[in-house]
Amino acid sequence: MAFQTPPEVLLRQCLRACNVLKHNRSLLSVSPIKCSARTYKAAVCTKLGHPMEIRETDFPSSLGASEVLLSVHGNGINFADILSSKGQYQMKVEPPFVPGSEIAGKVVEVGSGVNNVKKGDRVFCILGTSVGGASEYCVADCQGLIPVPDNLSLVEAAATIVNYGTAMMALNRKAKLKKRERVLVTAAAGATGLAITDIAKNMFDCEVIAVCGGQDKCNFLLEHGAAKAIDYTKESIRDKVKEYTGGQGVNVVMDQVGGDTLLECIKSMGFEGRAVTIGYASGKIPSIPANILLLKSASLIGVFWGSYSMANPVAFYESITQVLQGVGENKLRPYVGQTFPLDQVNEAYQYILDRKSMGKVVIKMKEEDHPAEL
Ligand SMILES: NC(=O)c1ccc[n+]([C@@H]2O[C@H](COP(=O)([O-])OP(=O)(O)OC[C@H]3O[C@@H](n4cnc5c(N)ncnc54)[C@H](OP(=O)(O)O)[C@@H]3O)[C@@H](O)[C@H]2O)c1
Repeated sequence: MAFQTPPEVLLRQCLRACNVLKHNRSLLSVSPIKCSARTYKAAVCTKLGHPMEIRETDFPSSLGASEVLLSVHGNGINFADILSSKGQYQMKVEPPFVPGSEIAGKVVEVGSGVNNVKKGDRVFCILGTSVGGASEYCVADCQGLIPVPDNLSLVEAAATIVNYGTAMMALNRKAKLKKRERVLVTAAAGATGLAITDIAKNMFDCEVIAVCGGQDKCNFLLEHGAAKAIDYTKESIRDKVKEYTGGQGVNVVMDQVGGDTLLECIKSMGFEGRAVTIGYASGKIPSIPANILLLKSASLIGVFWGSYSMANPVAFYESITQVLQGVGENKLRPYVGQTFPLDQVNEAYQYILDRKSMGKVVIKMKEEDHPAEL
C-alpha cells in the first residue's frame, strides 16, 4: 500500500529533534520550574505483584535542557505495564516505580534547549524509560513527543500509538498486506486486535475474520469492521475459516494469543500465507512444526514494535506516521472501551486481566479543556 507524503513532515520533525538533542545534551543547563502547586498524584508500584499505592509526589524543581514537564490527560494501559507491575515483563523494573509508558497530554514547561514543542501543545509520548505514565504530571524528553491531530481527543490519543503502531508495522511492514486480502486476527476485541481490524478493513479494504471469546465480543467486532467473527469458546477456528473462505484459507494471520491458538491459525492459512506472532496473552509460547509452513510455502514472522525505536527508528516512526495519516484522513478511529480515574488504577489493571475490556483501557487524569498551567 502506498502511503502519501504529509506524515513525512512529522517523521522529519522527530528525526530533527533527535539531532538537535544530541547537541543540546552537551549543554548542562537547567530551567527552574515556577509552580504554585506543591505536589501531584501518581500510582506507585512499591512491591511487585502487590496493589499500587496512590502517592503525593513533589514537582521537580527544574528541567534539563531537553526535558519537558507534561500534564498527563490519559495513560493508555498496555499488557506490558501490567506484567511490569508483577515483575513478569522481559524488561525488569525495580520498585518503587510509577507504571505506564503511553501517555497523551499537554506541555506545561520546557527546558532551555527544547524547540520542537511549546507550552500548551497537545502531544503523544512513549516514555523512554517505560515507566512514569500513571501520574498527573511527568517529565519526558522532548525527542519522544509527537503532536496530536486535532480530530483526536487526548484520551483517544492515549489509546493510539502503541497498539496502532504495532498493528501497522505487523500488517504493512511484516506481513506486507495487500489490498482486499483475508486477515484472521486473534484477541480481536483487545486493544491490538481492534487496531489491526481497523487498519486492515479501513486502510487496506481487507476482509477481517475476528477470533474472540464470547458472543458479545463477536458482536462488537462485527460492528467494528470485521466481516465474520468466530467465538473460539464454542467454535473451531479451523472449521469456521474453512467455511467462511470456501476452503481457501486466509492470506494473513495476526496472533496476540500464542499457545495452541497460533498453530490452529497457521493451519487456517492458504498457500503462501503469512502469520505474524505479536503476543502471548495466553501466557504460553507456541511451538510450530516447520513442515506446516513448508507444505503451504508459508511464513511465520515475529514483531516486537518497541524494539524498533532503537534498532530502526526510521521504521518505528514510519509506522506511527502511517497511523497518523489514517487518523488524519478519518479512516482510523482508536476506540476507548473504558476509562478509570487514577485512584482506580488497580481496578483498571484487573479489568483487563479479567478479559472484560473491549478496545483500549485508559486512566483518565483530566478533562480535555484542563488548562496547561501549574
Ligand atoms: N509484539 C509487540 O510489539 C506487541 C505490542 C503490543 C502488544 N503486544 C502483546 O499483544 C498481546 C495483546 O495485547 P493487548 O494490549 O491487545 O491486550 P488486551 O487488550 O488486554 O487483549 C488481550 C485479550 O487476549 C485474550 N486472551 C486470550 N487468552 C488470554 C488469557 N489467558 N488471559 C488474558 N487474555 C487472554 C482476551 O480476549 P478473549 O476474551 O477474546 O480471549 C483478552 O481480552 C499481549 O500479549 C501484548 O503483550 C505485543
